[in-house]
Order: sequence, then structure tokens, then C-alpha cells
Amino acid sequence: MISVSFLKSKYDRITTLNMIDESDADLIHVDLMDGIYVKEKNFEINDIINNLTDLFLRLDIHLMVYDPLKYIKELLKLNVYMITVHLDGTPNIDEVISYVHSKGVKIGIAINPDEDVNIIDKYLDKIDYVLIMSVYPGKGGQTFIKEVLNKIPYLKDKHVLIGIDGGINDEVIALIKPYNLDIVVSGSFICMSDNYNEQIRKLN
Ligand code: DX5
Ligand code: ZN
Repeated sequence: MISVSFLKSKYDRITTLNMIDESDADLIHVDLMDGIYVKEKNFEINDIINNLTDLFLRLDIHLMVYDPLKYIKELLKLNVYMITVHLDGTPNIDEVISYVHSKGVKIGIAINPDEDVNIIDKYLDKIDYVLIMSVYPGKGGQTFIKEVLNKIPYLKDKHVLIGIDGGINDEVIALIKPYNLDIVVSGSFICMSDNYNEQIRKLN
């Protein structure tokens, strides 16, 4: 599946969201940053809830925040496919996992480029998804860190969906293809263009 991030776009947030929603994307990747877990802040919870209501595509929410449970309750009123958190920003991970599951939504853990893939070991039988970060959280349009691909084989027989996020374009995708991942997140490669379907087609 292709999940499109609108963090860096040629157009304003509403226009971009509508363009993604009408495209051949499979999911909308919602990057939320609180100014604490990462220094950038890009949302007010009520604004983002309003922006994300009434979309056709399901949401793949990536919480680059400290204490995600503060936001999860509101966010789960939306059409959410999956919520992904960072372990080092989530003091109450067990509570987060059971709360998200109680709403019938998938839960994922993201692994930063400098984090070991083993950090998820304790949670592997409780989560649905592992998101390998191929850039450091905080900004769209960064360069893909190819060394993170070495983390994928470890996850392959673990019965979790596997995704990758950051710096993905039509060149990098050739490096990723052999791993046959479930979800590829791509942002600026798609949203800095005028023809989203053409970019999505190149990735597919
Ligand atoms: C990084 C975000 C990514 C990123 C993807 O902080 O989690 O989702 O915005 O955008 P591109 O594809 O531009 O790296
Ligand atoms: Zn993301």
C-alpha cells in the first residue's frame, strides 16, 4: 500500500488533503508533531480533527509526540486504519496498545534510524505494525538513509505489517522493492508535484 504524507506540499493543507483523497493512494499518512518529542510543532488537535473529517481514505496516523494517549482518544473519532507511536515518547505503551485495540484499530511502533530493531521485541506479539524510519522524525523532504534496510529481515517472520517512512522517491523505491513491504510512506515526492497519480504509479 502507498500511504501519502502531506507534511511537505506545494499547496495548503486542505487542498493537499483533498488531492490525496481523490488520488490512487491507499492511505493518508498523518504526521503529527508536538514540539516536544520533535522540535517542530505542526498541529492543534481541534484544527487537525476538522481537517481530517469527511475524507474518503483511511488515515495512517504517525504520532511524533510525547505521550500520544493525550491525542489518541480524539483522533480515534476519525476513520483511522492505524496509529503509530514512538516508544521513547510513550511512557504508557501497554495502555496505548490496549486502548487502540479496544477501538478496533491497528497499532504500530516506529523505529528511528538510530534505534535498534530489537527495541520492539517485548511488544511484537501485541502490535500490528512496525514502521521503519528512513529519516529522522521532524521534517518532510529529507534524504533516505539506506542503512535502515538492514532492519527488515529481522522483522520478516514476526507476523507484523512492515512499513518504511522518509525520503522515498522513484529512485529509492528500487532499493526497497526486494523487501516486499506492506506499506510505503511517501510525502514530498508526491505532494510537491501536480500529478499525484503519476507519482504514485511510479512508486507502484
Ligand atoms: C518525517 C515524517 C515522514 C515524512 C515523509 O518526519 O514522519 O512521514 O514527512 O515525507 P518525505 O517523503 O518527504 O520524506
Ligand atoms: Zn511519518
